[in-house]
Amino acid sequence: MSDNPHKHKDDVSGVETTGHEWDGIKELNNPLPKWWLYTFYACCAWAFVYWIFMPAWPHLSTEGWTYTKGVLGYEQRQSVADELAAVQAGRADQLAEITTKPLVEIAENPALMELALAGGKAAFGDNCAPCHGSGAQGSKGFPNLNDDDWLWGGTLDDIHTTLQHGIRWEADDETRFNIMSAFGKDEILTPAEISDVADYVLSLSGTQAEAEAIARGQEVFANNCVACHGEDAKGNQELGAPNLTDAIWLYGGDKATIVQTVSNGRGGVMPAWSSRLDEGTIKQLTLYVHSLGGGQ
Ligand code: HEC
Ligand code: HEC
Repeated sequence: MSDNPHKHKDDVSGVETTGHEWDGIKELNNPLPKWWLYTFYACCAWAFVYWIFMPAWPHLSTEGWTYTKGVLGYEQRQSVADELAAVQAGRADQLAEITTKPLVEIAENPALMELALAGGKAAFGDNCAPCHGSGAQGSKGFPNLNDDDWLWGGTLDDIHTTLQHGIRWEADDETRFNIMSAFGKDEILTPAEISDVADYVLSLSGTQAEAEAIARGQEVFANNCVACHGEDAKGNQELGAPNLTDAIWLYGGDKATIVQTVSNGRGGVMPAWSSRLDEGTIKQLTLYVHSLGGGQ
């Protein structure tokens, strides 16, 4: 492989060879296609312009490795920060809307609802799960918030009021309040009367007992319990008195537990959240709890 002596015109194509030859195969000296050449020049020109305007060359400085910044001062980190700030500003606007708009209007706005439910779920995990369970399923004395059985009401406004002011939370003047008397401890009823009324209560959700006991219990119920639980025993949400006919029990539906409830009274306590959480968060929690399945 050497130069000029081997250079000659190729017989077939009539093109001059470069003089390069490998085992009898010779290289034709065809010029580069024009489109290719101009694209190449354009790329070179673009690269020069790019170096001037954009961050380009790494180099060492007194502080270690850095790079030429380019006259535009463009930085990806900055643009990410700008985008994040824009998203957060948008979210702040939406949170402000949640704080000021009526709950029913938020419930009809899919974009606001999406944010509210996500925020409500997170706030629930932080503040409510210790008592109500992470799935809001509740436990003895702590109501299940997934069902449609409400002590104090399941509309958006009911739930909102419950959260703002708490239940039997004495530090809050507007707290939901009503205490079931301790009929045994306070000697309002005798143990026999309590046993009878417990049989009657059980019979309301289908548990059988001695018919005479139930009849006596019905009498005791009519004289002592209807003011709160209602004549039909279906409860009263104004007073936080549970429905006693639905076989859903806050404290337990076996006879021993009911006797204990009637003897000692009950008065579950939930903190008022308006002193601990901001209004936007309380509204998100309201919408979240309402969405769990039992909202009215
Ligand atoms: C310290 C325990 C405790 C915490 C924490 C707690 N709750 Fe409660 N919550 C209760 C108790 C107890 C009741 C039932 C009170 C009663 O017997 O009337 C209740 C009742 C409720 C009710 C009313 C249910 C009904 O049937 O009317 C709602 C709604 C509720 N809680 C939501 C929440 C939310 C949302 C949070 C978190 C911000 C929360 N709770 C945090 C203990 C708690
Ligand atoms: C002053 C109102 C009031 C009166 C009167 C009253 N209750 Fe209650 N009762 C309540 C309230 C409020 C609760 C819920 C307590 C709580 O949430 O912690 C309750 C809860 C109960 C429960 C528990 C239900 C459950 O799901 O575990 C039973 C049972 C019950 N009452 C039976 C009676 C019987 C029987 C009488 C009559 C002897 C009676 N109550 C009288 C207000 C009252």
